Amino acid sequence: MNLEMVIPRHIAIVMDGNGRWAQQRKRPRLFGHHRGAEAVRATVKACGKLSVECLTLFAFSSENWKRPEDEVEGLMSLLMTALNREAKGLVKHGVRLKFIGDVKGFSEKLQSKIRQVEELTSNGDGLLLQVAANYGGRWDIVEAAKALAAQSEATFSEATLSEQLSTQGVPDPDLFIRTGGERRISNFLLWQLAYSELYFTDVLWPDFDEETLLVAIQDFSGRQRRFGMTGEQVKEGSNA
Ligand code: IPE
Ligand code: IPE
Ligand code: MG
Repeated sequence: MNLEMVIPRHIAIVMDGNGRWAQQRKRPRLFGHHRGAEAVRATVKACGKLSVECLTLFAFSSENWKRPEDEVEGLMSLLMTALNREAKGLVKHGVRLKFIGDVKGFSEKLQSKIRQVEELTSNGDGLLLQVAANYGGRWDIVEAAKALAAQSEATFSEATLSEQLSTQGVPDPDLFIRTGGERRISNFLLWQLAYSELYFTDVLWPDFDEETLLVAIQDFSGRQRRFGMTGEQVKEGSNA
């Protein structure tokens, strides 16, 4: 591993390209989603190994309900299967699982499974794994605004609104990765991505693994994050 590698504290990924990966192999789209779940496992493991603090994965957007019914159903049942299958391993590796998104949109059965695995992993002291499911960045901001407005003596500021977002208490993503070649955010963490480094790759999600993650982190390591300052100021600060 390159010594100059800077490990992001928080990585957020739009896991895109499952459908095309399957189509290239003349298989149904769901086959791609199943392979995608394996890429999730590899990525979670790699992040744990690198001591990344938080990994946020976009699993199902608030817009994905528009897909054909059988694909949506397949994704719901995959989520259920993955939770059942992975729960023990998450506990074993100290991963704390947290869902962000409007989980009330899911079946009672899935909601209770989500709560169960969140509870089971709640003492994990390793990687925080945030799964964005039925998530939309705009939804997140509106919910936060509603929660703030409901307070009797609300103070509206960036800090108080941040505290009401689904990601409360978690530092904003340092590195945003989107696989599958598209260069868009698709209503992922709109507020939280304000100063994230954006990385796009043509690798389709089922082919994503530790090696492709390291390529992204290597790219991230070469970036200068200026947060509005000049490059010189940043250099001086890092020498101080
Ligand atoms: C991402 O892969 C997974 C979900 C949105 C659930 P896609 O299913 O969007 O794959 P493509 O973009 O059609 O290849
Ligand atoms: C974004 O991918 C959502 C997830 C990866 C869960 P999409 O494939 O739904 O995004 P668009 O529709 O191409 O923007
Ligand atoms: Mg897609």
